Amino acid sequence: MKSSIFSSVLAFAACALATPATVQPLLKRNPTGSFSLVAYSLASDYIDIFYSDGIAYAGDSSKWPYGSITTDVTFVITDTEMITTATTSGVTLDSDTLLYIRPTDDEVLPVGFTGNGITVPSDAVTTNFIFYGTYLMWEYGSGSLSDSFRAKETNVTGVYELYFDFSNLYPSGYETPVVKSQS
Ligand SMILES: *[C@@H]1O[C@H](CO)[C@@H](O)[C@H](O)[C@H]1NC(C)=O
Repeated sequence: MKSSIFSSVLAFAACALATPATVQPLLKRNPTGSFSLVAYSLASDYIDIFYSDGIAYAGDSSKWPYGSITTDVTFVITDTEMITTATTSGVTLDSDTLLYIRPTDDEVLPVGFTGNGITVPSDAVTTNFIFYGTYLMWEYGSGSLSDSFRAKETNVTGVYELYFDFSNLYPSGYETPVVKSQS
């Protein structure tokens, strides 16, 4: 699965990104209904993206002991916003819990969530998410797409904090995951 077929999908996606105006309408398609987000290329199989105290992590949420609210999540995409719902038993997130990225030049910044009484950074953006095939992207300017997700392993083995590297700095110490929807 991750070998040659996956690479060629990536190569095709990279190629298509160079000319979004012509290719994009064919492949842009948002998942219908609820879905999870998963990260590829951090482990031998994909790992789930979860919520903890307003920050997005990838890994097994049950192994993350920090944070007062930690939960697995599913998403629905509506008007380019990623509405987030808790799926771990006993946990509820506010109805305005939205995924955000922080598309600030020359910075690598955490991906997080609004709502739940947590202060949201002023550069956080919750709109303009789209899927390109099953790949999560962020659309900016005149239809340019960015999928510049990064991940940094936390002090819990196998649990990564998710980041967005808008200027594609590819900082050392960060992995380069591919974030996809999973129905
Ligand atoms: C591990 O990271 C968490 C979250 O960043 C932090 O709260 C905790 O103190 C750290 N634990 C150790 C043992 O460094």
